[in-house]
Amino acid sequence: MSKKYKAIIVGAGSIGNAHMEGYKRVDEVDVVAVVDPIAPARQTYMDDYGIPRGYATLAEALEKEEPDIVSVCVWHLLHDPVTVEAAAGPSVKGIICEKPMAIGMGRADRMVEACEANDVKLVISHQRRFTPGWEKAKELVEQGAIGEVIRADLRVRDGLANWGTHSIDGARFITGDPKAEWVLGAVTRATNKYERATPIEDSCMGLIHFGPSLQFFIQSDLWDRNCDAGKFLLRGTEGLLHVTETRLRLFNASSGGWSDVPLGLQEGDQAIGGNMNAAQTRELIQWIEGGPEHRGSGRKARDTVEIMMAMYESARHNKVINLPMAEKEYPLELMINEGKLPLEVDEMYDIRGFLNRDGIDENRYRQLRQDGMAHHQAMRTVHEEMAAKK
Ligand SMILES: NC(=O)c1ccc[n+]([C@@H]2O[C@H](COP(=O)([O-])OP(=O)(O)OC[C@H]3O[C@@H](n4cnc5c(N)ncnc54)[C@H](O)[C@@H]3O)[C@@H](O)[C@H]2O)c1
Repeated sequence: MSKKYKAIIVGAGSIGNAHMEGYKRVDEVDVVAVVDPIAPARQTYMDDYGIPRGYATLAEALEKEEPDIVSVCVWHLLHDPVTVEAAAGPSVKGIICEKPMAIGMGRADRMVEACEANDVKLVISHQRRFTPGWEKAKELVEQGAIGEVIRADLRVRDGLANWGTHSIDGARFITGDPKAEWVLGAVTRATNKYERATPIEDSCMGLIHFGPSLQFFIQSDLWDRNCDAGKFLLRGTEGLLHVTETRLRLFNASSGGWSDVPLGLQEGDQAIGGNMNAAQTRELIQWIEGGPEHRGSGRKARDTVEIMMAMYESARHNKVINLPMAEKEYPLELMINEGKLPLEVDEMYDIRGFLNRDGIDENRYRQLRQDGMAHHQAMRTVHEEMAAKK
């Protein structure tokens, strides 16, 4: 029996697997095709998940499959063009696009506008909003367990737009999606660093003011290498919450010191994939069917993008940036082009360069995956082996 919603996945890479793990758990959705310009990538994906068809372009898939839902699982700089193209597909009702939503406010707003103009529901995959730790933290905050929240302390690595987006978005989720009023940021970039083909900073930090007294402080790629995108400390007038996706600890007048808050974890409750991507999809279906706005809607995510972009913009002009922000481009790239971030080491490098699948030894990749190696590790190994042979 055919299912109610047909989905296609655009980008047969690592996060494409997480989307599939979610769809597998949702009864109403059938994944009918995958899109990837690299033939072996889409063939492996089709074989792994028993997906009947694959296409090299989104245009062909939209025409031939008439999907209801499109998963956008490509690198950051493709999020906006692919989302805008998918939104124009006559059959499309919902899109789940990966984080970071977009690199620059012009791109983020174009995505929201294209989806609204076509009556398409846009979700950004900040899937951690569905984790038991974050959901329970939000509930405790709403109940006043730590009084009025005055500070969130966030520490991330591997790029602000990469991990920072989850962290900022998560702290906003738990504190009720407040609107930021102003942002003060500092940025360093003395090496020619990229992440998934996007120029990024060596390190940065930012103070984000929401008012009346709520502030977030975020530091990225500074001293804490054991940090995590999903872990942060919330300080309230009456206590503290230490939040992770699958563990939550509370400290207040009645907790008897730090105490673990029961989360009732189930198999598949994890930061990426499994139950979280499934729950994200179910809430999209409810939204498509007339339910409330999705907790991870494009409108909410664009506010997270604006905070990150304002951190760069603040460093670019050495001043506090009041939101909404006027700059629509990527302020970090503008700073680079303006010569404000002189390099000490010229050689370009990409901290996710190992994901580039062009010209890899696909047989070796397939063998490593069959041996049980995860996509990231298999790609890393193939690249290292190919480099060693040169
Ligand atoms: N939500 C999360 O927790 C999370 C975790 C990891 C990655 N991500 C995000 O997912 C996105 C993808 O990252 P990844 O690690 O899966 O990358 P990846 O390199 O593993 O996969 C990307 C795939 O897209 C394909 N592709 C390239 N251009 C395409 C096009 N025009 N149409 C269709 N496919 C195309 C590539 O061939 C590749 O197979 C990134 O933006 C990343 O930030 C999110």
